[in-house]
Amino acid sequence: MTSKPTAQPIRYLSGVQPSGRLHLGNYFGAIQNHIRLQDQGECFYFVANYHSLTTVQDAKELQKYTFMAAADYLALGLDPAKALLFRQSDIPEVTELAWILSTVTGMGLMERAHSYKDKVARGIAPSLGLFFYPALMAADILIYQSDKVPVGQDQVQHIEMCRDMAGYFNNTFKKEVFKLPESVLSQTPKVMGLTGGKMSKSDEASVIPIFGEVSEIKKKVMNIVTDSKGVSEPKDPQENVIYLLYQLVATSAETAQMEKGFREGGMGYGDAKKLLLAKLEEVFGAERREKRKKMDEKPDLVEDVLIESAKKARKVIAPTMEKVYEAVGLPSSQIKKKILGN
Ligand code: TRP
Repeated sequence: MTSKPTAQPIRYLSGVQPSGRLHLGNYFGAIQNHIRLQDQGECFYFVANYHSLTTVQDAKELQKYTFMAAADYLALGLDPAKALLFRQSDIPEVTELAWILSTVTGMGLMERAHSYKDKVARGIAPSLGLFFYPALMAADILIYQSDKVPVGQDQVQHIEMCRDMAGYFNNTFKKEVFKLPESVLSQTPKVMGLTGGKMSKSDEASVIPIFGEVSEIKKKVMNIVTDSKGVSEPKDPQENVIYLLYQLVATSAETAQMEKGFREGGMGYGDAKKLLLAKLEEVFGAERREKRKKMDEKPDLVEDVLIESAKKARKVIAPTMEKVYEAVGLPSSQIKKKILGN
């Protein structure tokens, strides 16, 4: 923005869609990285409730999932003293900016979006909103002059589209209004699901919800389908979801031990499942579960964080939106204030 770039901390920004319970794929693909970064820069995280309208079209569900996503982040260690956590819709200018960006964006770019095609192939209704989704995401990123966007592999193309849109805008209006952001990949770009493909909320059977009931998680893990190889037979751990999930939560020594047991024989699927369950409980259990319960008991704790963060986020977008209005020839916010009377 206005001060010297060298004096500025790196600004990280990311969003999480509230369209279901957050699961291990979300955690290892993105959330863990988001929380780690709160000690390395200025972090802006938001619950992308506008985006979720493309798939969740039930008011109660959307509200519930929005709360759950925020509460999960807080229970997993997001510290509101270090990072902002707000609702996307509390900064409605982002939709205004998305529209403006769409007017400088060619159809060709939008038509190349893999995510749109994948979602339609999976049976999500091809609405105008679903198609427009990358423009809204670009606005999310650009409105905060973000430097880096920590995301999972599936979102990288969207960040590239965002850079393109920032460039189109700056070129069309001949002003350097937007910074071009970069994506930051997590170390675990893809988490295998319980049904063999990627862990994804569109396939409920594939997910382990981070804060599912102990009994539910136990049932899900114990029911993982395996081949019929006996305990003493050698097995390939890389094709085995129990092992692939275990390595995410266990230490390297524990992982090596399970790997050896599978490769040489001696490790049975049943025992491996029990080891995985114990590790999951160790990492996500007791303490975090307790914290998460507190949020359900006192939802205002979550609401307060969302409101305070949105207030700060509003301040940050104001100068950028002012530059946008000026660059394109829309009335400034002064005019809106006159109309609103404050
Ligand atoms: N599309 C992202 C996802 O599904 C969520 C998202 C919305 C996002 N806006 C964003 C991520 C801006 C990064 C930056 O995961």
